[in-house]
Amino acid sequence: MRQRAKLVVGNWKMFGSLAANEALLHGVIAGLKDRLALGQVGVCVPFPYLAQVQEILGGTGLWWGAQDVSAASEGAFTGQVSVSMLREFGTGAVLVGHSERRQYNGESDALVGAKAARAIAGGVRAIACVGETLDERESGRTEAVVLRQVDAILDALALDQLVHLVLAYEPVWAIGTGRTAGPEEAQAVHAAVRRRVLERAPKAGGAMTILYGGSVKPGNAAELFSMPDIDGGLVGGASLVAQDFIAIAAALPVAVG
Ligand code: PGA
Repeated sequence: MRQRAKLVVGNWKMFGSLAANEALLHGVIAGLKDRLALGQVGVCVPFPYLAQVQEILGGTGLWWGAQDVSAASEGAFTGQVSVSMLREFGTGAVLVGHSERRQYNGESDALVGAKAARAIAGGVRAIACVGETLDERESGRTEAVVLRQVDAILDALALDQLVHLVLAYEPVWAIGTGRTAGPEEAQAVHAAVRRRVLERAPKAGGAMTILYGGSVKPGNAAELFSMPDIDGGLVGGASLVAQDFIAIAAALPVAVG
């Protein structure tokens, strides 16, 4: 079986400036040095900074991604960005279906699936985000909601595309709140997601990388990453602080599962 990739991915969201990015990236490169050669660490940046990160990160082993992509390949879609444009800047991955896009941009499960499919068909790995709101968790619907979101992503992809898919479980109530899902709490959802992928794609399920996101910090990363179905983290706030991002990446087990 293909080995499961372990990853730590930064999500800068709508933060940054040319000067701040430069300092942050040089700090991360210096702090992680040889570990970067493993290809386990990446940063997903706002579109206008792709050229800058390509210039700074090219050849370092630290890869870069975007935070969204159009479901269309090209056309009259003002304000959207296509996967072929991302490719021109060496973009290795793209987030799709982040809860902030589902919430503020009204992205449906079907649209998220279509974006994942377009990214992968265009040669860019898709990191597809799923997760329940606080209300959904408190009413006992966590698994139903998360598996519905996972199903929509799997529905959109052919089996042979799944090797280019990473899933990220991010409980909405844990994002940017300082409130993390406990390791066991997160593991339970990760295990349910993996079971679903295994049912639908027996060959891909065991090898699928499933990241946890939501207030991952240096103090909780190692414990989260030690869980059997948590294959690393999608890191928002802490990815903007070089020392914190370095510590989180260093918490990733080097051995693959
Ligand atoms: P956070 O964000 O680490 O700031 O909670 C995670 C995310 O939204 O990907």
